[in-house]
Amino acid sequence: MLTVNTKFKEKGEYKIASCGDSVINLAIVENFNPHQFHGADGINFYPSQNQQFMDLIDEVANYVGVSAMNILVTNGSGKALDMILNAYTTQDTRILIPVPNYPGFVHSADLSQGTVKTIPFYGYQEDYDLFVEEVANADVIYMSVPNLPWGYVFDEDILNTLINKYPKKLFIIDEAYHEYSGVKSFVDKINENNVIVTRTFSKAFALAGARIGYIVSCPDILNILRVGYNAKDILNSSVEYALKTIKNRKYYLTNVDNDMKMMDYIKERMCKIVGFFKFVYEFIIPKGPWFIVKARDPALLCKRLLLGGYLVRDKSSELKDCIRISLCAKNDIIEVIDIIEAVNNEMCYTKTVIFDLDGTLRKDYDTDVFPCVHNHWKALTERYSVKIVTNNPKPKSSLMAYLTSNKLDLDDADLVCPITREMNPKNDTWFEYNGKIYVLGFPVIDHALLQKIVVSGEVCIIEKEYNTSSGEMGQYPDIKLPHIGYFLEFISKCYPDIVITIIGKESLLMNIGMAVMVGDTDIDKRFAESNGFLFVDIRDVSIDECIDQLLI
Ligand SMILES: Cc1ncc(COP(=O)(O)O)c(C=O)c1O
Repeated sequence: MLTVNTKFKEKGEYKIASCGDSVINLAIVENFNPHQFHGADGINFYPSQNQQFMDLIDEVANYVGVSAMNILVTNGSGKALDMILNAYTTQDTRILIPVPNYPGFVHSADLSQGTVKTIPFYGYQEDYDLFVEEVANADVIYMSVPNLPWGYVFDEDILNTLINKYPKKLFIIDEAYHEYSGVKSFVDKINENNVIVTRTFSKAFALAGARIGYIVSCPDILNILRVGYNAKDILNSSVEYALKTIKNRKYYLTNVDNDMKMMDYIKERMCKIVGFFKFVYEFIIPKGPWFIVKARDPALLCKRLLLGGYLVRDKSSELKDCIRISLCAKNDIIEVIDIIEAVNNEMCYTKTVIFDLDGTLRKDYDTDVFPCVHNHWKALTERYSVKIVTNNPKPKSSLMAYLTSNKLDLDDADLVCPITREMNPKNDTWFEYNGKIYVLGFPVIDHALLQKIVVSGEVCIIEKEYNTSSGEMGQYPDIKLPHIGYFLEFISKCYPDIVITIIGKESLLMNIGMAVMVGDTDIDKRFAESNGFLFVDIRDVSIDECIDQLLI
Protein backbone atom coordinates (compact mmCIF):
# COMPACT_ATOMS: atom_id res chain seq x y z
CA MET A 1 0.00 0.00 0.00
CA LEU A 2 1.19 3.47 -0.86
CA THR A 3 1.31 6.06 1.89
CA VAL A 4 -1.74 8.31 1.60
CA ASN A 5 -2.53 11.60 3.30
CA THR A 6 -4.82 10.24 6.08
CA LYS A 7 -7.48 12.90 5.47
CA PHE A 8 -7.98 11.44 1.98
CA LYS A 9 -8.67 8.03 3.51
CA GLU A 10 -11.44 9.39 5.69
CA LYS A 11 -13.41 11.30 3.05
CA GLY A 12 -15.11 10.72 -0.28
CA GLU A 13 -15.39 12.80 -3.46
CA TYR A 14 -17.07 16.25 -3.28
CA LYS A 15 -19.91 16.00 -5.80
CA ILE A 16 -22.53 18.52 -6.87
CA ALA A 17 -26.13 17.60 -7.58
CA SER A 18 -26.60 16.92 -11.27
CA CYS A 19 -29.52 15.87 -13.47
CA GLY A 20 -30.50 15.59 -17.11
CA ASP A 21 -31.65 18.54 -19.29
CA SER A 22 -35.39 17.75 -18.79
CA VAL A 23 -35.20 18.64 -15.08
CA ILE A 24 -34.45 22.10 -13.63
CA ASN A 25 -31.66 21.82 -11.10
CA LEU A 26 -32.55 23.84 -8.01
CA ALA A 27 -30.33 21.71 -5.81
CA ILE A 28 -27.33 23.95 -6.44
CA VAL A 29 -27.30 27.73 -6.28
CA GLU A 30 -27.06 29.20 -9.79
CA ASN A 31 -28.29 32.49 -11.27
CA PHE A 32 -31.05 32.10 -13.88
CA ASN A 33 -31.18 35.75 -15.13
CA PRO A 34 -30.00 36.27 -18.72
CA HIS A 35 -26.83 38.16 -19.68
CA GLN A 36 -26.96 41.19 -21.98
CA PHE A 37 -24.17 39.99 -24.26
CA HIS A 38 -24.02 37.21 -26.82
CA GLY A 39 -22.15 33.96 -26.54
CA ALA A 40 -23.01 33.35 -22.89
CA ASP A 41 -24.90 30.10 -23.50
CA GLY A 42 -24.73 27.85 -20.50
CA ILE A 43 -22.34 30.10 -18.62
CA ASN A 44 -24.84 30.70 -15.78
CA PHE A 45 -24.56 27.08 -14.77
CA TYR A 46 -21.80 25.06 -13.22
CA PRO A 47 -19.95 22.69 -15.53
CA SER A 48 -21.60 19.30 -15.40
CA GLN A 49 -20.20 15.86 -15.94
CA ASN A 50 -22.54 15.45 -18.90
CA GLN A 51 -22.60 13.04 -21.81
CA GLN A 52 -19.79 14.95 -23.57
CA PHE A 53 -17.68 14.53 -20.47
CA MET A 54 -18.30 10.76 -20.50
CA ASP A 55 -17.57 10.67 -24.24
CA LEU A 56 -14.29 12.45 -23.64
CA ILE A 57 -13.27 9.87 -21.04
CA ASP A 58 -14.05 7.09 -23.56
CA GLU A 59 -12.10 8.85 -26.33
CA VAL A 60 -9.12 9.45 -24.06
CA ALA A 61 -9.17 5.85 -22.85
CA ASN A 62 -9.25 4.68 -26.44
CA TYR A 63 -6.42 7.02 -27.44
CA VAL A 64 -4.23 5.97 -24.51
CA GLY A 65 -5.14 2.28 -24.83
CA VAL A 66 -6.63 1.72 -21.36
CA SER A 67 -10.09 1.34 -19.85
CA ALA A 68 -12.30 4.36 -19.01
CA MET A 69 -11.87 3.32 -15.36
CA ASN A 70 -8.23 4.34 -15.63
CA ILE A 71 -8.89 7.94 -16.66
CA LEU A 72 -9.51 11.03 -14.56
CA VAL A 73 -9.97 14.26 -16.55
CA THR A 74 -8.37 17.24 -14.80
CA ASN A 75 -8.09 20.98 -15.04
CA GLY A 76 -4.78 20.79 -16.92
CA SER A 77 -2.05 18.35 -16.00
CA GLY A 78 -0.60 20.97 -13.67
CA LYS A 79 -3.70 20.60 -11.52
CA ALA A 80 -3.39 16.83 -11.79
CA LEU A 81 0.11 17.01 -10.34
CA ASP A 82 -1.13 19.21 -7.48
CA MET A 83 -3.93 16.74 -6.73
CA ILE A 84 -1.42 13.90 -6.61
CA LEU A 85 0.84 15.81 -4.21
CA ASN A 86 -2.12 16.64 -1.97
CA ALA A 87 -3.23 13.06 -1.77
CA TYR A 88 0.10 11.30 -1.53
CA THR A 89 2.27 13.47 0.67
CA THR A 90 2.47 13.71 4.43
CA GLN A 91 5.11 15.39 6.57
CA ASP A 92 7.19 12.24 6.31
CA THR A 93 7.09 11.98 2.53
CA ARG A 94 10.37 12.29 0.67
CA ILE A 95 9.87 13.47 -2.92
CA LEU A 96 12.68 12.72 -5.34
CA ILE A 97 13.02 14.98 -8.39
CA PRO A 98 15.85 14.50 -10.88
CA VAL A 99 16.78 17.98 -12.10
CA PRO A 100 16.66 19.84 -14.40
CA ASN A 101 12.94 19.24 -14.60
CA TYR A 102 9.53 20.89 -14.97
CA PRO A 103 9.77 23.92 -12.63
CA GLY A 104 5.97 23.88 -12.10
CA PHE A 105 6.21 20.52 -10.37
CA VAL A 106 9.26 21.49 -8.33
CA HIS A 107 7.31 24.55 -7.15
CA SER A 108 4.23 22.53 -6.16
CA ALA A 109 6.37 19.87 -4.47
CA ASP A 110 8.14 22.58 -2.47
CA LEU A 111 4.73 23.81 -1.28
CA SER A 112 3.49 20.31 -0.44
CA GLN A 113 3.74 18.66 2.96
CA GLY A 114 6.62 16.47 1.83
CA THR A 115 10.36 17.15 1.66
CA VAL A 116 11.91 17.59 -1.76
CA LYS A 117 15.22 16.02 -2.69
CA THR A 118 16.66 16.98 -6.06
CA ILE A 119 19.53 15.19 -7.73
CA PRO A 120 21.35 16.12 -10.95
CA PHE A 121 20.21 13.93 -13.81
CA TYR A 122 20.69 14.49 -17.53
CA GLY A 123 19.77 11.06 -18.81
CA TYR A 124 23.41 10.02 -19.32
CA GLN A 125 24.43 6.47 -18.47
CA GLU A 126 26.57 7.65 -15.57
CA ASP A 127 23.60 9.48 -13.96
CA TYR A 128 21.54 6.35 -13.33
CA ASP A 129 23.55 4.94 -10.40
CA LEU A 130 22.83 7.95 -8.21
CA PHE A 131 19.19 7.97 -9.25
CA VAL A 132 18.74 4.28 -8.38
CA GLU A 133 20.48 4.86 -5.05
CA GLU A 134 18.24 7.83 -4.21
CA VAL A 135 15.01 6.05 -5.15
CA ALA A 136 15.70 3.71 -2.24
CA ASN A 137 15.45 6.71 0.12
CA ALA A 138 12.35 8.30 -1.45
CA ASP A 139 8.58 7.75 -1.21
CA VAL A 140 7.41 9.67 -4.26
CA ILE A 141 9.47 9.86 -7.43
CA TYR A 142 8.65 12.35 -10.18
CA MET A 143 9.98 12.42 -13.69
CA SER A 144 8.95 14.08 -16.91
CA VAL A 145 9.25 11.75 -19.87
CA PRO A 146 10.51 13.14 -22.19
CA ASN A 147 12.30 15.38 -19.76
CA LEU A 148 11.69 19.08 -19.74
CA PRO A 149 14.07 20.75 -20.54
CA TRP A 150 16.94 18.38 -21.33
CA GLY A 151 14.78 16.27 -23.63
CA TYR A 152 16.01 12.77 -22.74
CA VAL A 153 13.70 9.80 -22.34
CA PHE A 154 14.19 7.82 -19.14
CA ASP A 155 15.55 4.30 -19.61
CA GLU A 156 12.52 2.02 -19.76
CA ASP A 157 14.21 -1.08 -18.30
CA ILE A 158 15.63 0.77 -15.32
CA LEU A 159 12.31 2.44 -14.53
CA ASN A 160 10.39 -0.84 -14.90
CA THR A 161 12.81 -2.54 -12.53
CA LEU A 162 12.38 0.21 -9.95
CA ILE A 163 8.58 0.22 -10.26
CA ASN A 164 8.53 -3.54 -9.65
CA LYS A 165 11.12 -3.47 -6.91
CA TYR A 166 9.38 -0.77 -4.84
CA PRO A 167 5.60 -1.39 -4.76
CA LYS A 168 5.20 1.06 -1.84
CA LYS A 169 6.79 3.97 -3.63
CA LEU A 170 4.74 6.16 -5.95
CA PHE A 171 6.15 6.86 -9.41
CA ILE A 172 4.67 9.95 -11.08
CA ILE A 173 5.43 9.97 -14.78
CA ASP A 174 4.62 13.27 -16.43
CA GLU A 175 4.05 12.60 -20.12
CA ALA A 176 3.12 16.18 -21.08
CA TYR A 177 5.27 15.88 -24.22
CA HIS A 178 4.72 12.19 -24.90
CA GLU A 179 3.47 12.74 -28.46
CA TYR A 180 6.75 14.44 -29.38
CA SER A 181 8.99 11.72 -27.98
CA GLY A 182 8.41 8.90 -30.42
CA VAL A 183 8.77 6.35 -27.60
CA LYS A 184 6.38 4.00 -25.83
CA SER A 185 4.28 5.42 -23.00
CA PHE A 186 4.59 4.23 -19.39
CA VAL A 187 0.80 3.74 -19.18
CA ASP A 188 1.49 -0.01 -19.50
CA LYS A 189 2.76 0.08 -15.93
CA ILE A 190 -0.36 1.51 -14.23
CA ASN A 191 -1.58 -1.92 -13.14
CA GLU A 192 1.42 -2.20 -10.84
CA ASN A 193 -0.67 0.06 -8.53
CA ASN A 194 2.20 2.46 -7.84
CA VAL A 195 2.33 4.39 -11.11
CA ILE A 196 0.50 7.55 -12.13
CA VAL A 197 0.89 8.94 -15.63
CA THR A 198 -0.19 12.53 -16.26
CA ARG A 199 -0.97 13.86 -19.71
CA THR A 200 -2.22 17.16 -21.12
CA PHE A 201 -4.17 18.64 -24.00
CA SER A 202 -1.98 21.77 -23.77
CA LYS A 203 0.88 20.61 -25.97
CA ALA A 204 0.21 18.19 -28.86
CA PHE A 205 -3.50 19.13 -28.93
CA ALA A 206 -2.83 22.88 -28.76
CA LEU A 207 -5.34 23.57 -25.97
CA ALA A 208 -3.17 25.30 -23.35
CA GLY A 209 -5.84 27.97 -22.85
CA ALA A 210 -8.60 25.42 -22.25
CA ARG A 211 -6.87 24.00 -19.14
CA ILE A 212 -7.56 20.35 -19.64
CA GLY A 213 -5.48 17.24 -19.01
CA TYR A 214 -5.89 13.79 -17.54
CA ILE A 215 -4.50 11.24 -15.17
CA VAL A 216 -3.98 7.61 -16.18
CA SER A 217 -3.72 5.21 -13.27
CA CYS A 218 -5.31 2.21 -11.56
CA PRO A 219 -8.84 2.58 -10.04
CA ASP A 220 -7.55 2.41 -6.43
CA ILE A 221 -5.30 5.39 -6.96
CA LEU A 222 -7.97 7.31 -8.91
CA ASN A 223 -10.45 6.76 -6.07
CA ILE A 224 -8.04 8.37 -3.63
CA LEU A 225 -7.39 11.25 -6.04
CA ARG A 226 -11.14 11.79 -6.52
CA VAL A 227 -11.38 12.84 -2.87
CA GLY A 228 -9.47 16.00 -3.78
CA TYR A 229 -11.32 16.42 -7.07
CA ASN A 230 -13.87 19.12 -7.74
CA ALA A 231 -16.25 18.31 -10.57
CA LYS A 232 -16.89 22.05 -11.02
CA ASP A 233 -13.28 22.52 -12.18
CA ILE A 234 -13.69 20.99 -15.63
CA LEU A 235 -15.34 23.52 -17.93
CA ASN A 236 -17.94 22.25 -20.38
CA SER A 237 -16.30 24.33 -23.11
CA SER A 238 -12.92 22.73 -22.42
CA VAL A 239 -14.47 19.29 -22.59
CA GLU A 240 -15.94 20.26 -25.95
CA TYR A 241 -12.57 21.49 -27.26
CA ALA A 242 -10.82 18.39 -25.97
CA LEU A 243 -13.40 16.12 -27.55
CA LYS A 244 -13.09 17.89 -30.90
CA THR A 245 -9.31 17.66 -30.94
CA ILE A 246 -8.98 14.10 -29.76
CA LYS A 247 -11.58 12.94 -32.30
CA ASN A 248 -9.54 14.72 -34.96
CA ARG A 249 -6.23 13.48 -33.56
CA LYS A 250 -4.77 12.54 -36.91
CA TYR A 251 -4.52 16.24 -37.76
CA TYR A 252 -2.91 17.15 -34.41
CA LEU A 253 -0.48 14.25 -34.46
CA THR A 254 0.52 15.17 -38.01
CA ASN A 255 1.21 18.69 -36.74
CA VAL A 256 3.41 17.18 -34.06
CA ASP A 257 5.32 15.25 -36.72
CA ASN A 258 5.70 18.37 -38.83
CA ASP A 259 6.88 20.39 -35.85
CA MET A 260 9.49 17.78 -35.08
CA LYS A 261 10.56 17.81 -38.75
CA MET A 262 11.40 21.47 -38.22
CA MET A 263 14.18 20.16 -35.98
CA ASP A 264 16.00 19.02 -39.14
CA TYR A 265 15.96 22.58 -40.40
CA ILE A 266 17.09 23.89 -37.00
CA LYS A 267 19.88 21.31 -36.88
CA GLU A 268 21.05 22.11 -40.39
CA ARG A 269 21.19 25.86 -39.76
CA MET A 270 22.56 25.76 -36.24
CA CYS A 271 25.38 23.41 -37.31
CA LYS A 272 26.66 26.16 -39.58
CA ILE A 273 26.28 28.88 -36.97
CA VAL A 274 27.71 27.46 -33.76
CA GLY A 275 31.37 26.73 -33.14
CA PHE A 276 33.83 26.37 -30.35
CA PHE A 277 35.01 29.97 -30.52
CA LYS A 278 31.62 31.47 -31.22
CA PHE A 279 29.28 33.42 -28.95
CA VAL A 280 26.49 30.86 -29.41
CA TYR A 281 28.67 27.78 -29.29
CA GLU A 282 26.41 24.73 -29.00
CA PHE A 283 22.83 23.60 -29.51
CA ILE A 284 20.79 20.66 -28.25
CA ILE A 285 17.80 19.07 -29.95
CA PRO A 286 15.58 17.31 -27.39
CA LYS A 287 12.64 14.95 -27.82
CA GLY A 288 10.22 17.79 -27.20
CA PRO A 289 8.89 20.90 -28.97
CA TRP A 290 11.78 23.21 -28.11
CA PHE A 291 15.52 23.46 -28.63
CA ILE A 292 18.36 24.64 -26.45
CA VAL A 293 21.25 26.89 -27.38
CA LYS A 294 24.32 27.60 -25.31
CA ALA A 295 25.68 31.14 -25.40
CA ARG A 296 28.73 32.70 -23.77
CA ASP A 297 26.43 35.37 -22.31
CA PRO A 298 22.89 33.92 -22.24
CA ALA A 299 21.31 37.07 -20.78
CA LEU A 300 22.69 39.11 -23.65
CA LEU A 301 21.35 36.69 -26.26
CA CYS A 302 17.93 36.73 -24.56
CA LYS A 303 17.99 40.51 -24.71
CA ARG A 304 18.84 40.49 -28.41
CA LEU A 305 16.07 38.00 -29.17
CA LEU A 306 13.61 40.10 -27.17
CA LEU A 307 14.60 43.18 -29.16
CA GLY A 308 13.86 41.11 -32.25
CA GLY A 309 10.41 40.28 -30.85
CA TYR A 310 11.02 36.89 -29.22
CA LEU A 311 10.88 36.10 -25.52
CA VAL A 312 12.90 32.98 -24.74
CA ARG A 313 13.68 31.18 -21.50
CA ASP A 314 17.03 31.89 -19.87
CA LYS A 315 17.82 28.58 -18.12
CA SER A 316 21.41 29.51 -17.30
CA SER A 317 20.90 29.69 -13.54
CA GLU A 318 20.16 25.97 -13.69
CA LEU A 319 21.94 24.88 -16.87
CA LYS A 320 25.21 26.59 -17.66
CA ASP A 321 24.89 29.00 -20.61
CA CYS A 322 21.57 27.47 -21.77
CA ILE A 323 18.52 29.17 -23.13
CA ARG A 324 15.40 27.29 -24.18
CA ILE A 325 13.49 28.26 -27.31
CA SER A 326 10.05 26.79 -28.01
CA LEU A 327 9.07 25.60 -31.46
CA CYS A 328 6.64 27.89 -33.24
CA ALA A 329 5.69 28.77 -36.82
CA LYS A 330 8.50 28.07 -39.27
CA ASN A 331 8.88 31.71 -40.35
CA ASP A 332 9.42 32.70 -36.71
CA ILE A 333 11.94 29.90 -36.21
CA ILE A 334 13.78 31.18 -39.30
CA GLU A 335 13.82 34.67 -37.83
CA VAL A 336 14.98 33.47 -34.41
CA ILE A 337 17.87 31.61 -36.05
CA ASP A 338 18.64 34.63 -38.23
CA ILE A 339 19.00 36.69 -35.05
CA ILE A 340 21.28 34.07 -33.49
CA GLU A 341 23.37 34.03 -36.67
CA ALA A 342 23.61 37.82 -36.74
CA VAL A 343 24.64 37.93 -33.07
CA ASN A 344 27.30 35.30 -33.73
CA ASN A 345 28.70 37.17 -36.70
CA GLU A 346 28.73 40.42 -34.83
CA MET A 347 30.24 39.06 -31.65
CA CYS A 348 33.11 37.39 -33.31
CA TYR A 349 35.41 36.40 -30.50
CA THR A 350 38.05 35.24 -32.85
CA LYS A 351 39.39 38.60 -34.07
CA THR A 352 41.78 38.80 -31.15
CA VAL A 353 43.49 35.82 -29.59
CA ILE A 354 45.44 36.24 -26.38
CA PHE A 355 47.86 33.55 -25.27
CA ASP A 356 49.33 33.02 -21.87
CA LEU A 357 53.04 32.15 -22.15
CA ASP A 358 54.28 29.67 -19.50
CA GLY A 359 52.36 26.40 -19.48
CA THR A 360 50.47 27.46 -22.60
CA LEU A 361 52.81 28.39 -25.46
CA ARG A 362 55.73 26.61 -23.77
CA LYS A 363 56.03 23.92 -21.13
CA ASP A 364 57.76 26.09 -18.53
CA TYR A 365 59.90 29.20 -18.13
CA ASP A 366 63.02 27.45 -19.35
CA THR A 367 61.83 25.67 -22.51
CA ASP A 368 61.30 26.59 -26.13
CA VAL A 369 57.76 27.12 -27.40
CA PHE A 370 55.84 24.00 -28.39
CA PRO A 371 56.45 22.95 -32.03
CA CYS A 372 52.79 23.51 -32.98
CA VAL A 373 53.09 27.13 -31.78
CA HIS A 374 56.24 27.67 -33.72
CA ASN A 375 54.83 26.00 -36.87
CA HIS A 376 51.54 27.89 -36.93
CA TRP A 377 52.56 31.27 -35.54
CA LYS A 378 52.66 32.94 -38.95
CA ALA A 379 49.21 31.62 -39.88
CA LEU A 380 47.83 32.69 -36.51
CA THR A 381 49.20 36.22 -36.73
CA GLU A 382 47.99 36.59 -40.31
CA ARG A 383 44.50 35.61 -39.34
CA TYR A 384 44.16 37.21 -35.89
CA SER A 385 45.39 40.04 -33.83
CA VAL A 386 47.58 37.93 -31.52
CA LYS A 387 48.74 39.06 -28.10
CA ILE A 388 50.68 37.41 -25.31
CA VAL A 389 49.68 38.34 -21.78
CA THR A 390 51.95 36.79 -19.19
CA ASN A 391 52.71 37.07 -15.51
CA ASN A 392 56.29 36.01 -16.17
CA PRO A 393 58.45 38.22 -13.88
CA LYS A 394 61.32 38.61 -16.36
CA PRO A 395 61.78 42.08 -17.82
CA LYS A 396 59.87 42.69 -21.00
CA SER A 397 63.03 43.13 -23.10
CA SER A 398 64.28 39.67 -22.23
CA LEU A 399 60.87 38.12 -22.95
CA MET A 400 60.90 39.87 -26.35
CA ALA A 401 64.39 38.49 -26.98
CA TYR A 402 63.12 35.02 -26.09
CA LEU A 403 60.24 35.34 -28.58
CA THR A 404 62.62 36.47 -31.30
CA SER A 405 64.98 33.56 -30.63
CA ASN A 406 61.97 31.23 -30.95
CA LYS A 407 61.03 32.96 -34.21
CA LEU A 408 57.70 34.23 -32.85
CA ASP A 409 57.16 37.56 -34.50
CA LEU A 410 55.27 39.92 -32.19
CA ASP A 411 55.04 43.71 -31.85
CA ASP A 412 56.34 45.05 -28.60
CA ALA A 413 52.88 46.45 -27.78
CA ASP A 414 51.36 43.00 -28.11
CA LEU A 415 53.42 41.50 -25.33
CA VAL A 416 51.84 42.43 -22.03
CA CYS A 417 53.92 41.62 -18.95
CA PRO A 418 54.22 43.24 -15.55
CA ILE A 419 57.94 44.05 -15.30
CA THR A 420 60.25 46.12 -17.50
CA ARG A 421 64.04 46.34 -17.52
CA GLU A 422 63.73 49.90 -16.22
CA MET A 423 61.74 48.69 -13.21
CA ASN A 424 64.13 45.88 -12.31
CA PRO A 425 67.49 46.51 -14.05
CA LYS A 426 69.42 44.03 -11.94
CA ASN A 427 66.96 41.14 -12.13
CA ASP A 428 66.43 41.18 -8.38
CA THR A 429 63.85 39.07 -6.60
CA TRP A 430 62.45 42.26 -5.07
CA PHE A 431 63.00 45.89 -5.98
CA GLU A 432 61.80 49.41 -5.42
CA TYR A 433 60.39 51.43 -8.31
CA ASN A 434 58.70 54.83 -8.24
CA GLY A 435 58.39 54.61 -4.47
CA LYS A 436 56.72 51.20 -4.47
CA ILE A 437 58.09 47.85 -3.34
CA TYR A 438 57.73 44.95 -5.78
CA VAL A 439 58.27 41.36 -4.70
CA LEU A 440 58.56 38.61 -7.31
CA GLY A 441 57.59 34.95 -7.07
CA PHE A 442 60.57 33.51 -5.18
CA PRO A 443 61.98 36.42 -3.22
CA VAL A 444 65.19 36.37 -1.24
CA ILE A 445 63.85 37.94 1.91
CA ASP A 446 65.99 40.01 4.18
CA HIS A 447 65.50 42.55 6.89
CA ALA A 448 65.83 45.48 4.47
CA LEU A 449 62.89 44.19 2.40
CA LEU A 450 60.63 43.83 5.41
CA GLN A 451 61.64 47.24 6.65
CA LYS A 452 60.82 48.82 3.29
CA ILE A 453 57.44 47.14 3.08
CA VAL A 454 56.52 48.22 6.61
CA VAL A 455 57.51 51.83 5.89
CA SER A 456 55.69 51.89 2.53
CA GLY A 457 52.55 50.18 3.92
CA GLU A 458 52.11 48.40 0.58
CA VAL A 459 53.68 45.55 -1.33
CA CYS A 460 53.16 44.94 -5.06
CA ILE A 461 53.14 41.38 -6.27
CA ILE A 462 52.40 39.80 -9.65
CA GLU A 463 50.18 37.00 -8.45
CA LYS A 464 49.36 35.21 -5.23
CA GLU A 465 48.71 31.70 -6.38
CA TYR A 466 51.98 30.14 -7.32
CA ASN A 467 50.49 26.80 -6.38
CA THR A 468 48.59 26.73 -9.66
CA SER A 469 51.50 27.70 -11.83
CA SER A 470 54.64 26.75 -9.96
CA GLY A 471 55.16 23.93 -12.44
CA GLU A 472 56.08 26.64 -14.89
CA MET A 473 59.16 27.32 -12.82
CA GLY A 474 60.51 23.87 -13.68
CA GLN A 475 61.21 21.02 -11.31
CA TYR A 476 64.26 21.98 -9.31
CA PRO A 477 64.04 20.20 -5.96
CA ASP A 478 67.26 21.81 -4.73
CA ILE A 479 65.76 25.31 -4.91
CA LYS A 480 65.21 26.43 -1.34
CA LEU A 481 64.06 30.00 -1.95
CA PRO A 482 61.12 31.21 0.10
CA HIS A 483 57.86 31.06 -1.76
CA ILE A 484 55.82 34.22 -2.30
CA GLY A 485 52.73 32.47 -0.90
CA TYR A 486 54.41 31.80 2.48
CA PHE A 487 55.84 35.27 2.51
CA LEU A 488 52.46 36.88 1.93
CA GLU A 489 50.91 34.71 4.60
CA PHE A 490 53.57 35.95 7.00
CA ILE A 491 52.92 39.58 5.96
CA SER A 492 49.15 39.35 6.34
CA LYS A 493 49.42 37.61 9.74
CA CYS A 494 52.10 39.84 11.25
CA TYR A 495 51.29 43.09 9.44
CA PRO A 496 47.55 42.97 8.68
CA ASP A 497 47.50 46.68 7.74
CA ILE A 498 49.90 46.27 4.86
CA VAL A 499 48.13 46.48 1.53
CA ILE A 500 48.94 43.69 -0.94
CA THR A 501 48.49 44.97 -4.50
CA ILE A 502 48.33 42.52 -7.38
CA ILE A 503 49.85 43.98 -10.55
CA GLY A 504 49.59 40.84 -12.72
CA LYS A 505 46.98 39.95 -15.29
CA GLU A 506 44.27 39.43 -12.66
CA SER A 507 44.10 43.18 -12.17
CA LEU A 508 44.50 43.97 -15.86
CA LEU A 509 41.59 45.46 -17.79
CA MET A 510 42.45 45.59 -21.47
CA ASN A 511 39.46 47.35 -23.02
CA ILE A 512 39.80 45.63 -26.37
CA GLY A 513 36.28 44.21 -26.74
CA MET A 514 35.76 40.56 -27.60
CA ALA A 515 38.70 38.16 -27.53
CA VAL A 516 39.65 34.56 -26.94
CA MET A 517 42.03 33.97 -24.03
CA VAL A 518 44.02 30.74 -24.13
CA GLY A 519 45.57 29.85 -20.79
CA ASP A 520 46.28 27.14 -18.28
CA THR A 521 45.56 28.54 -14.81
CA ASP A 522 42.68 29.83 -12.73
CA ILE A 523 44.40 33.21 -12.85
CA ASP A 524 44.14 33.16 -16.65
CA LYS A 525 40.50 32.22 -16.29
CA ARG A 526 39.75 35.09 -13.90
CA PHE A 527 41.59 37.49 -16.21
CA ALA A 528 39.44 36.29 -19.12
CA GLU A 529 36.24 36.55 -17.09
CA SER A 530 36.90 40.05 -15.79
CA ASN A 531 37.63 41.23 -19.35
CA GLY A 532 34.66 39.42 -20.86
CA PHE A 533 36.91 37.17 -22.99
CA LEU A 534 36.08 33.62 -23.97
CA PHE A 535 38.44 31.38 -22.00
CA VAL A 536 39.96 28.28 -23.54
CA ASP A 537 41.54 26.12 -20.89
CA ILE A 538 44.66 24.28 -21.98
CA ARG A 539 43.97 21.84 -19.14
CA ASP A 540 40.87 20.70 -21.10
CA VAL A 541 41.96 21.18 -24.72
CA SER A 542 45.55 20.66 -25.80
CA ILE A 543 47.38 23.59 -27.37
CA ASP A 544 47.62 21.59 -30.63
CA GLU A 545 43.86 21.13 -30.69
CA CYS A 546 43.23 24.74 -29.78
CA ILE A 547 45.46 26.03 -32.59
CA ASP A 548 43.84 23.58 -35.03
CA GLN A 549 40.39 24.94 -34.05
CA LEU A 550 41.58 28.51 -34.43
CA LEU A 551 42.87 27.81 -37.90
CA ILE A 552 39.84 25.91 -39.22
C1 LIG B 1 6.52 18.79 -18.19
C2 LIG B 1 5.23 19.54 -17.98
N1 LIG B 1 4.29 18.97 -17.23
C3 LIG B 1 3.12 19.57 -17.01
C4 LIG B 1 2.84 20.81 -17.54
C5 LIG B 1 1.52 21.45 -17.21
O1 LIG B 1 0.73 21.56 -18.33
P1 LIG B 1 -0.83 21.91 -18.24
O2 LIG B 1 -1.11 22.31 -16.83
O3 LIG B 1 -1.04 23.00 -19.21
O4 LIG B 1 -1.54 20.66 -18.60
C6 LIG B 1 3.80 21.46 -18.33
C7 LIG B 1 3.56 22.79 -18.88
O5 LIG B 1 4.42 23.48 -19.37
C8 LIG B 1 5.02 20.79 -18.56
O6 LIG B 1 6.00 21.36 -19.29
